[in-house]
Amino acid sequence: MKPVRIPDLRAMKESGTKIAVLTAYDATMARLLDRAGIDVILVGDSVGMVVLGYDNTIPVTLDMMVHHTRAVTRGATRALVVADMPFLTYQINPDEAIRSAGRLLQEGGAAAIKLEGGRAVLDVVRRMTDYGIPVMGHLGLTPQSVHALGGFRQQAQDSDSASRLLNDARDLEDAGAFSIVLESIPADLACKVTSAIKIPTIGIGAGRACSGQVLVWHDLLGLIPGPTPRFVKKYADIAGDISRALDAYVTDIRTRAFPTDQHTYGMPDAERLRMDEKIRK
Ligand code: KIV
Repeated sequence: MKPVRIPDLRAMKESGTKIAVLTAYDATMARLLDRAGIDVILVGDSVGMVVLGYDNTIPVTLDMMVHHTRAVTRGATRALVVADMPFLTYQINPDEAIRSAGRLLQEGGAAAIKLEGGRAVLDVVRRMTDYGIPVMGHLGLTPQSVHALGGFRQQAQDSDSASRLLNDARDLEDAGAFSIVLESIPADLACKVTSAIKIPTIGIGAGRACSGQVLVWHDLLGLIPGPTPRFVKKYADIAGDISRALDAYVTDIRTRAFPTDQHTYGMPDAERLRMDEKIRK
């Protein structure tokens, strides 16, 4: 299948074809997403929370992102791979930002990077796009600002912050971003933003008017036990399946139902059971 390129996303928005985006952090998952026809794989810094066990994305480093991006690009052949720029790798100055993005493209093999924020990052976005580094923006709930925002909560609920967000989206487009993630904002605002700009919007908790949707795969496939955010649709109960499989494995070990002859080189079952008995005595 033909690989997805940056201009394809704009064409999809223009033709009304919704863009399917999902996170991945390793080659196995990337292969499955690719096979399923996911258009964009986001190597999100959410890796810090759903894989590495941190409470938020702030501890994620550039080395971690390069490592996971490399794994994903080994697995994906069709989907466009976008890598998140971690906290403080693009805020200090544009030179450092370009060097950090360069590592995600050169060492990680990503086709584009994503960074969070509006006005504060416009310079960086302009410089990156001038140098041919495709940039995806991210507005609304920007998880790297979790402390300043007072938690993971819906954003842009009053008219001032809504119009600030709309202006930020227009400015990001002018600065050269090829797409913008809109996270946890009212659906009517996401709709307004999507029609105000030509580049595609990718929503997460932002309603159905966005040009595409993104979810964290652990949420979508039910890998995290317990309640999920309201905007998530769980398509599977992988955590339940894993628990059931592991219970069965432990039981098989205890009862000696595994391994059998079928899983053993050399020693037939009867002989093995006799040896087992001997060892027990
Ligand atoms: O890090 C991430 O996975 C993200 C998505 C939730 C948009 O930024």
